[in-house]
Amino acid sequence: MDTPSQGSEIGNRGSEATVINSEPRVIVALDFSNPMHALALAHRLDPRECAVKVGKELFVTAGPEPVRWLVDRGFNVFLDLKFHDIPNTAASACAAAARLGVWMIDVHASGGRAMLRAARDAVDAAASGAARTPPMLIAVTVLTSLDDADLREIGHASGAKAEALQLARLARDCDLDGVVCSAHEASALRTACGPVFRLVTPGIRLAESAQDDQARIVTPEAAVRAGADFIVIGRPITQAADPLATLAEINRTLAKVKKGRA
Ligand code: C5P
Repeated sequence: MDTPSQGSEIGNRGSEATVINSEPRVIVALDFSNPMHALALAHRLDPRECAVKVGKELFVTAGPEPVRWLVDRGFNVFLDLKFHDIPNTAASACAAAARLGVWMIDVHASGGRAMLRAARDAVDAAASGAARTPPMLIAVTVLTSLDDADLREIGHASGAKAEALQLARLARDCDLDGVVCSAHEASALRTACGPVFRLVTPGIRLAESAQDDQARIVTPEAAVRAGADFIVIGRPITQAADPLATLAEINRTLAKVKKGRA
């Protein structure tokens, strides 16, 4: 079942991709310990104004039912479970996610070529078996909570930017649709991976909001100017005094921003 807001943005591999201006750029991260709070917020959101992201906390607590509910309500749902496992296991999980009718799923690029290829094939086969458009399959490069010192500590000496670039190239080689990356790397990744490759950037903070645990933060406008296609925003919206007004203000600001293309 295609959701009303999906349009032709999905199934966007290759040069035939077109960007639909009305597609929401903001993905609201529904990160709540109580699933009812996540669904209560989603109930107030308009699928034309934002996509939504279901992460590990909501999925582990409440399972796939909230995902189905969100898909049925017309939301573009990013199921952010960041799979990273042996190829067969990661691919099976991706296939199961694709059958839920979500719009976007992700795996860790550091799972390697065989895992990325297996995930790609499994998503396409599952979507075709269910007569659905495949969800965008994107790869996490470097978590935006990690800075260069954190990376050195876990044996990655090249630094966040170089590592993100290397992982993004691998993901593109394996036919993934895009990557999750910091907006700090978006411009370099855009140059390296071309105009069709989707860049999804978390680590977004409004000028006035707290940094929380995000180390490499950027404002929504700066992220889109740097080339981000979609921006993931959690706490600055979900914890705002008025989440809907905050989202509306971000959308108003973004409507004036021309996306950067290196
Ligand atoms: O509340 P906040 O805006 O920091 O939420 C960011 C969301 O994006 C969280 O759900 C987090 O899991 C996710 N994310 C991230 N960094 C990545 C990938 C996803 O922060 N590299």
